[in-house]
Amino acid sequence: MSSFNEAAVRKGTACIKWDFQEADYGVSGLLPFSIADADYRTYQPIVDALKARVDSGVIGYTDLNEEYFSAVKGWCKRRHDWAIESSWIVPTGGIVPAMCTAIEVLTEPGAGVIVQPPVYDPFYSIIEASGRKILRNDLLKTEAGYQMDLAGLEELAQKGASMLLLCSPHNPVCRVWTYEELEAVARICQKYGIIVVSDEIHWDLILGDKKHVTMGQFSQLYDQLIVCTSCSKTFNIAGLETSNLIIPGEKIRKKYQDHLYARYLFVPNTLGLESVKAAYKDGDAWVDAQCAHLKENARIVKEYLQENLPEVHLAEVEGTYLLWLDMTAYGLSSDALVERIAAAGAGLNSGAHYGAAYEGFVRMNVACPKEQLLAGLDCIRKALKGEAV
Ligand SMILES: Cc1ncc(COP(=O)(O)O)c(C=O)c1O
Repeated sequence: MSSFNEAAVRKGTACIKWDFQEADYGVSGLLPFSIADADYRTYQPIVDALKARVDSGVIGYTDLNEEYFSAVKGWCKRRHDWAIESSWIVPTGGIVPAMCTAIEVLTEPGAGVIVQPPVYDPFYSIIEASGRKILRNDLLKTEAGYQMDLAGLEELAQKGASMLLLCSPHNPVCRVWTYEELEAVARICQKYGIIVVSDEIHWDLILGDKKHVTMGQFSQLYDQLIVCTSCSKTFNIAGLETSNLIIPGEKIRKKYQDHLYARYLFVPNTLGLESVKAAYKDGDAWVDAQCAHLKENARIVKEYLQENLPEVHLAEVEGTYLLWLDMTAYGLSSDALVERIAAAGAGLNSGAHYGAAYEGFVRMNVACPKEQLLAGLDCIRKALKGEAV
C-alpha cells in the first residue's frame, strides 16, 4: 500500500498545480493547495497496468470489452449499491466536456440550466459557452451547514428550467447529500421534466458518517438522468481524462450517443481504459485507506484552525478533499485573501470563483502528505495574523 504521506515529485513535470502558478498568483514557487488532484502517487496496480500495456507496444484503437463492463458494474454495485447494465455505460474524455455536450445535445439554445452556488466554476462557463442561461439556486447556509434550497429549485422548475447540474458530493462545500434531499430533487425534476446531470466525480471520497447516495438510485422513479462518474479523483489519475457517464434512460442515452457517433467522439483512450479496469478491479482497500488519510487531514485542519485561527470557519467535511473556509471575519475579498496567503507561501483558490456571493471564502485542497498540509496551515496563519514570513 502506498503511503499518502509520501510526496510524489510533481514539480518539473509540467504539473498544473506546481509548475503553472504565475497565471493565478503572479508568482511561482508556492506550496499549492489548489486544483483538484493529489500530491501523492496513484494506486500501484494502475501504474502496472499502464506499464504492461505500453510494454506490449500495442496501443491501437480499443473499445469496451466484457472485462471493462464487469469492472465498472462491479464498482457501482460494491461501492454504491447500484446495479447498472453494460449498455448504460458511455465512456467520455472527461466530465466537464461531457457535461457541456449534455447541455448542447439535450437542451435548446437559450434554455435555462440550474446551478447551485457556491459550485465548481466550470459549471458556469459551460452553460455560457453553450449559449444557455445560468439559473442560480444558491445553497442555503444554515446552522446545520449548507442545504439545498428545494423551494428555490421548484420555483425555477416552474419557470421553465430545462436542466439541473447537480454536484454530488458538492464541490466546494463538502456536502454529501442525503437520500431524502436527493429524492426531493428527483421528484421536483420529474414533476417538471427537468433533465438531471449529476456530477458524481467525487462519489468515492466520503469522509464523514453519511453514505453517498447516487442519483442513479432514483432512475426507476425518473430516468431523465445522466450520472457522471470517473476514476480521476478517486485514484488520482485526472490527467488520463477518462470517465464514464451512466445513462439509464434509453431515450436520452441514444440522443447523447448519436451525437458522439456522428462526430467520432466515441473512440475511448486505450490507456484510460486500462486504468479504469485496474482501478475498479480491486482498488477498494486503497480507496478506503485514502479516505482515512483525507479524513485525518480534514481533522488536522479543523484542530489547527480552532487553536490558531478561531475566526476561520470550516464547513463540515462530509466528502471531497476540497475544504471550504469561511474567512469573512477578516473583511477581505476572496482575491485579497488568496493574495495575502500567497505572499506567505501557499496557493489556495478564491471562493469568488465558485459564485459571486462568496467573497471572504477560500477553497483548500488537502489531498497531500501531512507535512505539506501543516506547512500550508502555517502559511495561512502567518498571512492572517500578519506574522513575518
Ligand atoms: C465537481 C467536479 N467535476 C468535474 C471535475 C473535472 O472533471 P474532468 O477533469 O473529468 O473534466 C472536477 C475537478 O475538480 C470537479 O471537482
